[in-house]
Parts: sequence; C-alpha cells; structure tokens
Amino acid sequence: MKRTVKDLVNLEGKVVILRVDFNVPLDDGGKILDTTRIVQSLPTIKYLIGQKAKVVLISHLGRPEGYEIRKSLWPIALILIQALPTSVHFINKVYGDEVKQRINDMGNGEVLLLENVRFYKEEIECDMAFARKIASLGDYFVNDAFGVAHRKHATTYGLARLMPNAIGLLMEKEVSALTGAVDNPKHPFVFIIGGGKVQGKINLILKLLDSADTVIIGGAMAYTFLVASGVAVGESKVYDESVSYARDILNIAKERGKKILLPIDHVCIRESAKRKKPFVTDEMVDDMVGFDIGPKTIALFKEEIKNAKQILWNGPLGKYEDPEFAKGTMEIAKAIADSDAYSIVGGGDSLSAIKMAKVENKIDLISTGGGATLKFIEQGSLPCIDVIQDKIVLKR
Ligand code: ADP
Ligand code: 3PG
Ligand code: MG
Repeated sequence: MKRTVKDLVNLEGKVVILRVDFNVPLDDGGKILDTTRIVQSLPTIKYLIGQKAKVVLISHLGRPEGYEIRKSLWPIALILIQALPTSVHFINKVYGDEVKQRINDMGNGEVLLLENVRFYKEEIECDMAFARKIASLGDYFVNDAFGVAHRKHATTYGLARLMPNAIGLLMEKEVSALTGAVDNPKHPFVFIIGGGKVQGKINLILKLLDSADTVIIGGAMAYTFLVASGVAVGESKVYDESVSYARDILNIAKERGKKILLPIDHVCIRESAKRKKPFVTDEMVDDMVGFDIGPKTIALFKEEIKNAKQILWNGPLGKYEDPEFAKGTMEIAKAIADSDAYSIVGGGDSLSAIKMAKVENKIDLISTGGGATLKFIEQGSLPCIDVIQDKIVLKR
C-alpha cells in the first residue's frame, strides 16, 4: 500500500507540490469542454487547504510544442477560483525566483497554479535537472494525476524520486476501485470492449479473460474478431496484423469456458453508393462497411448486461461521434446505467459517450484515465505509482 496524502502530518505552512491531471478536452478555440478531471481533483486540493498547507498545483494540458497560448492553464485558475474556498493564484512559469517569491508571499491554505508544464520539453524527457528546480520549491510531492501515471515524466515520476512523497485521494480511489474490480470481481462480471485500437487492447482482453465471465466485443475491433471466427465483414475495417491474436483469444476463451459475444447484425453503408444511407444487415458482404452494432446485437448485449453484477466498459461500440452511428453506444451506455451491477467506465471516448447519453451520474466509477486506466488494469500498477513510498505499518 502506498503512502497517501493523509499520512503526511504537520502540513501547516508546508509547501506541497501537487501533480494533478488537468488535461481537459478543449475545442479549437481553447474553450474547456468538460471539467470532470478538475472536479475529481478537488478533494485532495481541499484536504490540503484544510491542513493549511501552501498548495502548489502542477499539470500538463494537451501536447503543446513549446508555448501555445490556447494551452495555458490560466482558464483553469478561473475555474478553481469558483470551486475553492480560498485564494487561488496563477503564475506563468513552473520554477525560478519569481515562483519562489510567490510561494513565500502566499498565505497558508492558499493555492498557486503553475503554468502548463509541457511548455517545457524537459517534462516529457524526464529531465532530472528540470525536476530538481521544481522540487526546490516545496517540502512534499503528492501525485494525484492518475490519468498520466503511465508516463515517466519529470513531474509525474522525477519529483517522486527527489522529494518525500505520497499519492493523492483521487489516485487512491482509482487504484483501489480498479484493483478490487479486477482481483475481486462480483460475478457475473461482464467486460465490454469496443473502440478502434485492437493491437493496443489485446493484452487487456487477455488479462480480463482471467476474471471476467463474459467479454462483449463491439466497435471497430469487432470486425477483426469476426474475421478471426470466419464471418465475412465486407469492407469493414479489419486490423490484419491482429487477426491471429484475435483467433488465439477466441480459442483461449473457449478452453476456459468464458463467453465471448460478437455482433450479430450491423449498421452499414455501401462504399460504392452515391448516397451513403445507413442500413441494417445480418450479413456484411461486398463493399459494405460497418459503423455500428444493429438492433439484434443491442438486444443480445443488453440481456447479458441485465444479469451482470459487475460491468467494466472501455471503448464505444460504433462511430458514436456521428449521430447516424451513435445508437449502439447510447443504448449500451443506458443499459449499463440502468443495471444494478457495479459499473466502471474508463477511456477518453467512453467517457464522452457516457456524457452524450447523459448517464454519468448513474455510473459507479468513472475513471479519469484513458491510456493509464487500460495499462493499470493490464499490469496491476503504473510506474508513477510504484515510485511512491510505501505506507509504513508498525506492528505491535
Ligand atoms: P477509448 O478512448 O474509450 O479508449 P478508443 O479510442 O479505443 O476508445 O475508440 C474510440 C474510437 O473508435 C472513436 O473515435 C469511434 O468513432 C471509433 N469507432 C468505434 N467503432 C467504430 C466503427 N465501427 N467504425 C469506425 N470507428 C469506430
Ligand atoms: C490523458 O489524457 O490520457 C492523460 O492526461 C495523458 O495525456 P497524454 O496521453 O498526452 O500523455
Ligand atoms: Mg480514445
């Protein structure tokens, strides 16, 4: 077990560098589209305010190349001002004398947000000289950035090597919920996987074949599995390099008596048609291309969801960004929300789909990670969590 922020004592007046993941989705104009990650970071920030620490927040936003005004964290400071019961300051740097001065000048229990740390290329290079400059600002390092805990960067990994450290409350919550769900699932445990990247998700499916009772496969990756099981998919997207992996997964599932459900009908278009009007079919032939699951598949998947006691969902079941192909994903999102099962949803697009279906309040755990959540489930931990000090438990 890792040391948590609650294990740090006598924090009054101490400077705590808190790494958060404020990597929120932005539109082209830089407007924040969703504040979930900011909201989920508030408990740790508020805890530290309550302990009268000086809270120095550090985060990345997007993948900027050098300074990009649209990726400044300044708008996030304005959100924090509304959300926190204390003074919030912002500075357009992450280290140096000016930052030290601002920290000296701030009151106990106040918050200082630093600028987007990825404006410095040293961040993703995990440059330890850069990390040392940031470490010199504070007394403790707390990592609450679960969403980026799979990346060994200067402020996610480097700082933990340089400073007394702990994980934050969000990190603790995600780790314990995901670990419990995978290691001690409630049965029947239904794992629903969709989206695009087959190759990136093969190990995840293999890992979950250990603990899940049923694996439901939809989205673009389903066509690769259908081909592997000898079903024609017309000209739908198939990841050729993954077909033999998919076949292995189907065989392993059969050997272990696990159920794998694949789509039995599809919403398609004809590639050659002038007007690409979507239609439903049981059999994809010729130049048909599938973009969503059909009504029979929705019913089949819903039946399985209804009987589940635990559900883990990653990856949309169709090209949900397009209203013509959103129905499968929306219906499954609503079925998960309405079921009595303990439900966990992870993945960037899956979270957007949950919001689109307006059911985010009916999901038990919405993981803030995309890639991090999938890697955590696959590997049982992440490098930026491993590097944090273990909790010291004294035996009497
Ligand atoms: P997550 O971010 O939740 O892990 P992914 O990034 O793996 O999910 O997949 C999301 C993408 O997969 C979306 O852009 C969606 O449009 C696409 N997708 C899902 N099903 C299909 C399909 N049948 N055809 C084309 N694209 C699809
Ligand atoms: C995410 O959005 O998944 C995390 O914030 C990590 O961002 P990255 O993929 O740009 O490293
Ligand atoms: Mg995605």
